Amino acid sequence: MFGSIAHRYDLLNSLMSLSMHHRWRAALIRGLRLRPGMRVLDVCAGTGDVAFAAGRSEPGLGPVVGCDFCVDMLTIAAAKEAAEPRSVTWVAADALALPFKSAQFDACAVAFGIRNVVRPADGFAEMARVTRPGGVVGCLEFGTPRGRIAAALVRVYENTALPALGGLLSRRSAYAYLPESIGRFSSREDVMEMMRAAGLVDVRVMDLALGAVNLFTGVRR
Ligand SMILES: C[S@@+](CC[C@H](N)C(=O)[O-])C[C@H]1O[C@@H](n2cnc3c(N)ncnc32)[C@H](O)[C@@H]1O
Repeated sequence: MFGSIAHRYDLLNSLMSLSMHHRWRAALIRGLRLRPGMRVLDVCAGTGDVAFAAGRSEPGLGPVVGCDFCVDMLTIAAAKEAAEPRSVTWVAADALALPFKSAQFDACAVAFGIRNVVRPADGFAEMARVTRPGGVVGCLEFGTPRGRIAAALVRVYENTALPALGGLLSRRSAYAYLPESIGRFSSREDVMEMMRAAGLVDVRVMDLALGAVNLFTGVRR
């Protein structure tokens, strides 16, 4: 499914989020508290925008790695690299079996990916495993606004505009899957619990876009 939408993924991201996705990723990068020399992993990297945003935010960063199991997505990410100030290493891998040593990274991020991982709790456990003690794991994911009116508005938008735009410019079924997968995904409390169970402490959540997007952070114990 991801391979079939890869070529239009960036365009649809901008249209569907009304260009807000850049700000959401910037908030994720701030949450990672990056410093010179840090090694960063972007899991479910897709077309690479989190990895690129990390590289742009801190010029002295150590190695940046983006991994995803969809090679079509990574091919587009690699093609965008020429316009970026620094390079990223792309690795084709399943989030449930990351091919990295324990504590290999200082920070680990996942944006709009964990919802798609078959066992998200195990995905968090893998991210925590490859992050060194004291390092931050950050996760951006769609959520449900707490206010009833905002929740209803967001639900209408997700169920109508997203499949319509997806059908017009990409593969409709993939974008019909989007609201379905958001509706099925765990509550913010459950996500925080999964992160704690994975060995993260000081787990926090911040609402973005009225709570339609949640930013979770936790520190590796
Ligand atoms: C919605 S895209 C998000 C891409 C990117 N992080 C972003 O912020 O735009 C979800 C990505 O997760 C990847 N993905 C889903 N399940 C995965 C898994 N188990 N292992 C690795 N990648 C996975 C998909 O291939 C897809 O590229």
